[in-house]
Amino acid sequence: MIENEFEYDFENRMSAPEYTPADEEIENSLRPKQLTDYVGQEKAKENLSIYIKAAKQRGEPLDHVLFYGPPGLGKTTLAGIVANEMGVNIRVTSGPAIEKQGDLVAILSNLEQGDVLFIDEIHRLNRTVEEILYPAMEDGKIDIIIGKGPSARSYQLSLPKFTLIGATTRAGQLSAPLRDRFGVILRLEMYTPEELSQIVKRSSKILNIPVDDEGAYQIASRSRGTPRIANRLLKRSRDFAEVKYEGVITAEAAASALNSMEIDELGLDSIDRRLLTTMIKNYNGGPVGLETISAAIGEESVTIEDVYEPYLMQIGFLARTPRGRIVTPAGYKHLGFENNTDNPQQSFDL
Ligand SMILES: Nc1ncnc2c1ncn2[C@@H]1O[C@H](COP(=O)(O)OP(=O)(O)OP(=O)(O)O)[C@@H](O)[C@H]1O
Ligand SMILES: [Mg+2]
Repeated sequence: MIENEFEYDFENRMSAPEYTPADEEIENSLRPKQLTDYVGQEKAKENLSIYIKAAKQRGEPLDHVLFYGPPGLGKTTLAGIVANEMGVNIRVTSGPAIEKQGDLVAILSNLEQGDVLFIDEIHRLNRTVEEILYPAMEDGKIDIIIGKGPSARSYQLSLPKFTLIGATTRAGQLSAPLRDRFGVILRLEMYTPEELSQIVKRSSKILNIPVDDEGAYQIASRSRGTPRIANRLLKRSRDFAEVKYEGVITAEAAASALNSMEIDELGLDSIDRRLLTTMIKNYNGGPVGLETISAAIGEESVTIEDVYEPYLMQIGFLARTPRGRIVTPAGYKHLGFENNTDNPQQSFDL
């Protein structure tokens, strides 16, 4: 049994990509409304703009769309943009918020022709609710049963044509029948520092925070490929700039702010470092199973899988193998460890 030797550290969750209530204040004002203001994701944008144009030319609603990818990359934002570009209303809900079939029936029967229904975390819909969704997506109909036992009657309700936009961080958890009913499936990718720089500069204009090019790039390169984190770090860096650097976020001001938040040049925070260090010190760099890592560092395994690993894999510090996770030589180097040559797993033939 390995003890968790670390205290839970809220301050260092600054660089966690999940939404927190503190983000609300800035996120809404920062959400681009048009496809042209949405930075990056060129492939998804190009496809979407074609589908939107075609649907509009035919005077039909857009086909059902599924966005998937790690948290904070802009799925909710993109759903809003689609509705806006189509010139229709958007109704926003989430998988866990729809508990009973009746909840979904109520939502569906209130939609108007062409509306977008956005279901966030759609992988968390329960199966009985999903069953309502299939005929609604396919034929624009829902079957409802009123009453119980022998007196129960079934009615069919016709719905106006609508577009379902689903978002999920875990496409693999979506049931096959649901996944198959989406005409368009788009994967969002992590952003490059250059793209995040543009986002930081755009946000700084909206929030009226002076930042120079190098300052924006510093923030961008430490934001783990994620716009939500970039915006959050921008806001936090402003405090440092105001108190210590005459108000402008220069490279120096940003670096000092981020260092004091224990976010390093690549955007790794204390939890990333703890994860890699624990793997190196206690498990020889792996392979080690997810559950074991989870117990050792005291983080939920889903959080490790959805939140920490995608970025560590993106920058090539961690790899998944059939026998477990391993720290790569680049990961060893970044954390200042000698590469472990005794461990045959560390010679890479993945
Ligand atoms: N391409 C982009 N251009 C500019 N800003 C963006 C972009 N993508 C995301 N953002 C900003 O990042 C923040 C988070 O985006 P959003 O809420 O859409 O992420 P998400 O993928 O829905 O996250 P989650 O999985 O947690 O629901 C928003 O405030 C938005 O302004
Ligand atoms: Mg979202």
